[in-house]
Amino acid sequence: SPSDPALVERARAAKEKLGDKVFVLGHHYQRDEVIQFADVTGDSFKLARDAAARPEAEYIVFCGVHFMAESADILTSDAQKVVLPDLAAGCSMADMATAEQVAECWDVLTEAGVAEQVVPVSYMNSSADIKAFTGRHGGTICTSSNAKRALDWAFEQGEKVLFLPDQHLGRNTAVRDMGMSLDDCVVYNPHKPNGGLTADELRAAKMILWRGHCSVHGRFSLDSVNDVRARIPGVNVLVHPECKHEVVAAADHVGSTEYIIKALEAAPAGSKWAIGTELNLVRRLANRFAPEGKEIVFLDRTVCFCSTMNRIDLPHLVWTLESLAEGNLVNHIQVDKETEAFAKLALERMLALP
Ligand code: 13P
Ligand code: SF4
Repeated sequence: SPSDPALVERARAAKEKLGDKVFVLGHHYQRDEVIQFADVTGDSFKLARDAAARPEAEYIVFCGVHFMAESADILTSDAQKVVLPDLAAGCSMADMATAEQVAECWDVLTEAGVAEQVVPVSYMNSSADIKAFTGRHGGTICTSSNAKRALDWAFEQGEKVLFLPDQHLGRNTAVRDMGMSLDDCVVYNPHKPNGGLTADELRAAKMILWRGHCSVHGRFSLDSVNDVRARIPGVNVLVHPECKHEVVAAADHVGSTEYIIKALEAAPAGSKWAIGTELNLVRRLANRFAPEGKEIVFLDRTVCFCSTMNRIDLPHLVWTLESLAEGNLVNHIQVDKETEAFAKLALERMLALP
């Protein structure tokens, strides 16, 4: 079993043997059995910064998904090796924008005569190729914790934003935080000729949203919100900005995983919360805050884990740490040099946002 005491002991022993040579990062959506071995936990933004802040560690074991490990590789030195305990831990949202599709989109924007006015802003949840495209075209990366600052910056550089690949984060930030209207946004569908948009629609739009989404957060609906409000009078609804616009519009608070944790830390005893994000995190928070008299429930009635985040389990972590302790570099994530240079430009623009 994954919480097998023998496996826990093996992970502990291998980590001890590696000492300062290894640094383990854990995203908030990771399983408890993995989080217990993380040297630091965080949201995507915090982990990207923390990876770069440990130059003495030879190995960065990234307990999260592939795009996070790539970003860590881009931001760390060549001497540091970033390792992803299971190579199948991808992100379905990141997979919704490929380099070919995005290059084609740029051609469509060029044909329509708008490319010169467009600044790309790409969500951290994207491949290194997409980050490189973003850097090459003068854009920045953002995460759910700095999307407004990234858009403020982008609209100082140009008149339009191409937001990749999460249409919901793009729309929610534009409408909720920047005062734009839904009519300022159009959706570019990579599976349709010209993205399914006319040149006039592209010229009129301020936000060109890529048609991508998170399948985990996409499962929360307006019904989930109405249902929990009926069940738990006085409940505070707190959701991640990857949720659909109607869910975000009906919620009381919206923020990244780190924001969600801070909000619950600051919440008064006796308060009630329904959280719209991944279930490992919500369960951990419910257990952590129950003794303080804070009631925390999952926003939906159905179970909703991120299946790729969950691929990193204790057996994979044990295998990874033991391999590294024996001097075998496994599951090394390495972005090629040219991609890395442009992707780094885009990531550094994000890190420099005010
Ligand atoms: P955070 O940046 O809020 O940690 O979100 C990452 C993610 O993958 C959300 O689905
Ligand atoms: Fe990707 Fe959604 Fe999983 Fe986050 S929760 S890693 S966006 S699939």
